[in-house]
Amino acid sequence: MLSLKLMKYVSAVSPFSPLKWNLRRGIKVAVVGAAGGIGQPLSLMLKLNPLVTELSLYDKVDTKGIAADLSHICTSSTVRSYFGKKELIDALECASIVVVAAGLPSKPGMDRSELLDANASVASIVAKAVSNACPSALLAFITNPVNTIVPIVAEVLKQEDAYDPKRLFGVTTLDVVRAKTFIGELLDIDPHTVSIPVIGGHAGKTILPLLSQCDPKLELDSEEKAQLVSRIQDAGTEVVRAKAGKGSATLSMAYAAAHFVNSLLRAVNHEENIIECAYVQSDLSEAEFFASPVLLGPKGIEKNLDLPEMDDEEEKRFGDMIAQLNKEIEDGVKLVAC
Ligand code: LMR
Repeated sequence: MLSLKLMKYVSAVSPFSPLKWNLRRGIKVAVVGAAGGIGQPLSLMLKLNPLVTELSLYDKVDTKGIAADLSHICTSSTVRSYFGKKELIDALECASIVVVAAGLPSKPGMDRSELLDANASVASIVAKAVSNACPSALLAFITNPVNTIVPIVAEVLKQEDAYDPKRLFGVTTLDVVRAKTFIGELLDIDPHTVSIPVIGGHAGKTILPLLSQCDPKLELDSEEKAQLVSRIQDAGTEVVRAKAGKGSATLSMAYAAAHFVNSLLRAVNHEENIIECAYVQSDLSEAEFFASPVLLGPKGIEKNLDLPEMDDEEEKRFGDMIAQLNKEIEDGVKLVAC
């Protein structure tokens, strides 16, 4: 006869046991570009996240040292290191979430096409590897220019017969983080208590913070609003200039990406009502990819929520940005086609 202790154990591990559903499933998160300026602090934040069970660190340069270093932190996830072309597939195998920070950062004076030339091939290689190793993973791209990189990844995944628009995200969380911070400073309140949607894309005029939807309410005149919108839109350049040739936002981007990945993890874990702004395939505007609030679920986007309301000035900015966004999307599609 089975002892009571053994029966409890068998019932806990049986796939049919109700107790089983209370056990957290293993979640492997892969960071591609883990040795870089964003990748390292992002990996640190993910090592601190109790929802991660395995952290897979990949880069083209050796990640052994970073993995050894992080592995000494007393949280329960295991850390594995991979590097070089041959190990990319192993790094991604069985990942539930892949976050991609690989590629060149912006430098002062660098135009978008130079950045695109450098980063498009990196994004394509990762997309192909994902389609082989973990086609059902949620895939979050930080690599810039996000407005073009995400459509490139979508095209490559289509070619590989592995495209699911619900699983592909461009990370625009930093725009929301910046909007909350600057509004917090302006109102002299804790930025965490600010709620504001930022829609469109992740570059210049395509970044559209909807100040009219801010909670708490903002009492600003038209000029003050325009200044705040410009500060949010140009915040990336503010950091690039301040770093004077030594790269772009890394620490705040890592924070923002870790926040976004945490929301994906919570959704994968069947937590409800997880909403984030992200750059995704969309039919909310005339642009095929558009950042807006999405409801997340275990398999990615559960619902692309309706566009938030806009005031007249925001409607105008929205209309003005679509041509730029469409051009940036089209550049990506063309690049994959030729
Ligand atoms: C940022 O928003 O700071 C970055 O995405 C900008 C960049 O070009 O690296």
